[in-house]
Amino acid sequence: MFPYKANRPLQRLLLAFKRHQYGDTAKRKSSSSSSSPRLVLGIETSCDDTGAAVLSETGAILGESLHSQKEVHLRTGGIIPTVAKQLHMEHIESVVQEALDQSGVDPAQLSAVATTIKPGLALSLGVGLEFSLSFVKRHSTPFIPIHHMEAHALTVRMLQPVSFPFLVLLVSGGHSLLAVARGVDNFLQLGHSLDEAPGETLDKVARRLSLIKHPRCSTLSGGQAIELLAKDGDRMKFPFRTPMGQMYDCCFSFSGLRNQVNMTIEKKEAEEGIEHGTLLSCVNDIAAATQHTVACHLAKRTHRAILFCKANGLLPSLTPTLVVSGGVASNQYIRKALGIIAEATGLRLLCPPAKFCTDNGVMIAWNGVERLREGKGVLHPNVEISYEPKAPLGVDLTSQVKAAAIRVPSIRMNIS
Ligand code: KG4
Ligand code: ZN
Repeated sequence: MFPYKANRPLQRLLLAFKRHQYGDTAKRKSSSSSSSPRLVLGIETSCDDTGAAVLSETGAILGESLHSQKEVHLRTGGIIPTVAKQLHMEHIESVVQEALDQSGVDPAQLSAVATTIKPGLALSLGVGLEFSLSFVKRHSTPFIPIHHMEAHALTVRMLQPVSFPFLVLLVSGGHSLLAVARGVDNFLQLGHSLDEAPGETLDKVARRLSLIKHPRCSTLSGGQAIELLAKDGDRMKFPFRTPMGQMYDCCFSFSGLRNQVNMTIEKKEAEEGIEHGTLLSCVNDIAAATQHTVACHLAKRTHRAILFCKANGLLPSLTPTLVVSGGVASNQYIRKALGIIAEATGLRLLCPPAKFCTDNGVMIAWNGVERLREGKGVLHPNVEISYEPKAPLGVDLTSQVKAAAIRVPSIRMNIS
């Protein structure tokens, strides 16, 4: 694999080779000085969404398409990797074609194809990667491998000017992490989940509550269902403990909360004399209490991360920014909780609209644009590369954060 701008002699050699092999097309594709902005196709298949988008380097979305497997996985009670793979295989070609058709862009006009290769479900990542490698070979297009969490972190920069460094909280069905974004490929990780991700917890609680049988929730993801029901619930009815109260770092843990919720559900089922699989009368209250505890846990860890950044000069004094993204960041209650922390610490809080928080091809194409502009990780079309189901984001500072043992002043979480 040859990054175009990794080293000058190699780059010259590679360009000479490309001109020889691809003639004028390669010159046009790799050039940023041509009058029309460069175009990137982004492809996402890391979990259960098949997404594609064509973006201009100015950030204009020229075409996009998304096929969600959510309803299938809701019916089977969770993502079955072989089913996810099969559905990606069935849809990837038409999803990519639709994005291209909408954009009116011919594959020969693309400056790069950017595809998620890590982290995610191995079988799902494999479909996107195989499709992309064959596409870039066929059309002689440079290839940009994408880290899914880097893409979530950078999406906000497509929507408004946000300069580095900024603090980012990424919360989804597969991840929760706090990091300082210092550059397109430069992250300091302050904390991550020690067990499951918050979206996974919300999905499992929703499944345990059989919310798919609830008339208002049958097509919603677990997180969406909990948010909707929580609006009519009283969180005070179930005072769940906020996790990791005695751990003074920025890591997360959600499995203990899930145990608390499960025990409550069992107790309530016994009290109401109903069987597992039947809707409880107090689902709204359980949803409200679960959502509140997840929000408080995320807020407290984020608060500590902000104080750590301040103590170590990791954020600019002018407009320090907290970006929140990933599927769980579409939750308005959680956003409000983080808003309280941001206000108390003097940070600007930015959350992309829900459509850009959940997985999509646009965020991958945008990450491709950011990398193309800086010439970072732009590879030759004949590159041999594999996917990586597990891949940390950036340099791990979790032990330094833990050693700092910052006590967070208590803040009233009065969220309406
Ligand atoms: O980022 P994403 O689309 O996929 C992953 O990379 O995981 O996130 C999906 C997760 C699911 O667990 C889903 O339940 C959760 O995001 N989610 C929400 C909401 N919408 C989606 N969680 C809480 N509130 C929401 N409104
Ligand atoms: Zn995601």
